[in-house]
Amino acid sequence: MLYDAGKILAGLAIFLVLVTAPIWWNVATGADAQAPELVMPQDQGGCVLPSGEMRASHMELLNDWRDLVVRDGDRIMITWDGREKRRSLTASCLGCHSDREKFCDRCHDYVGVTPYCWDCHITPIGGAS
Ligand code: HEC
Ligand code: HEC
Ligand code: HEC
Repeated sequence: MLYDAGKILAGLAIFLVLVTAPIWWNVATGADAQAPELVMPQDQGGCVLPSGEMRASHMELLNDWRDLVVRDGDRIMITWDGREKRRSLTASCLGCHSDREKFCDRCHDYVGVTPYCWDCHITPIGGAS
């Protein structure tokens, strides 16, 4: 092996964290006056992974969930604190984050991404939160 894949991946990960750090810093601290105000679920327990990990990698998590469900029919996951949840965009993510507009959309608008998932996946918009 000429290259050490582990080191290259670690380097890439560090690079990604560094280039996106200003965004996360602003979102996390509310330092930027225009940082979105996110409405967090109440009384639902914590997220499926710790918040920091969710902020950094919920896109990969959702891809994994889709593959596991669609290819392997493997629909149940255990959260980091031991609860059973369905691997489902609508039933789980939006089950807790029930007002997509004040959570997912606000952050995505702020960072300028437009996931196309809602073309097919039904979600409540502006619903009770
Ligand atoms: C059981 C309820 C529940 C489920 C299911 C859930 N979340 Fe969460 N999520 C929460 C709560 C509560 C918080 C805030 C936790 C905190 O602040 O410690 C949170 C935090 C987050 C954050 C970090 C927000 C921030 O700025 O701190 C993201 C991103 C997120 N969730 C996305 C998702 C996605 C995507 C899914 C589905 C893959 C999902 N969540 C599933 C309850 C849930
Ligand atoms: C704290 C900010 C934040 C919150 C809250 C948030 N996201 Fe994201 N999301 C991002 C960022 C930043 C990206 C782009 C990451 C990238 O380009 O690598 C992203 C990307 C995605 C992607 C991939 C889109 C694409 O085109 O690649 C999906 C899917 C996604 N988010 C789903 C959700 C869902 C569902 C919720 C609500 C349950 C949510 N996100 C809440 C910040 C957030
Ligand atoms: C062209 C339509 C379409 C689009 C666009 C789409 N999906 Fe799906 N998705 C499906 C179908 C169909 C299933 C299978 C439903 C099942 O078996 O429960 C599915 C299943 C899933 C599942 C597992 C089951 C569930 O209830 O959530 C996840 C997670 C998922 N998709 C995530 C995403 C994400 C994230 C995006 C956007 C980046 C996305 N999908 C975009 C059609 C779509």
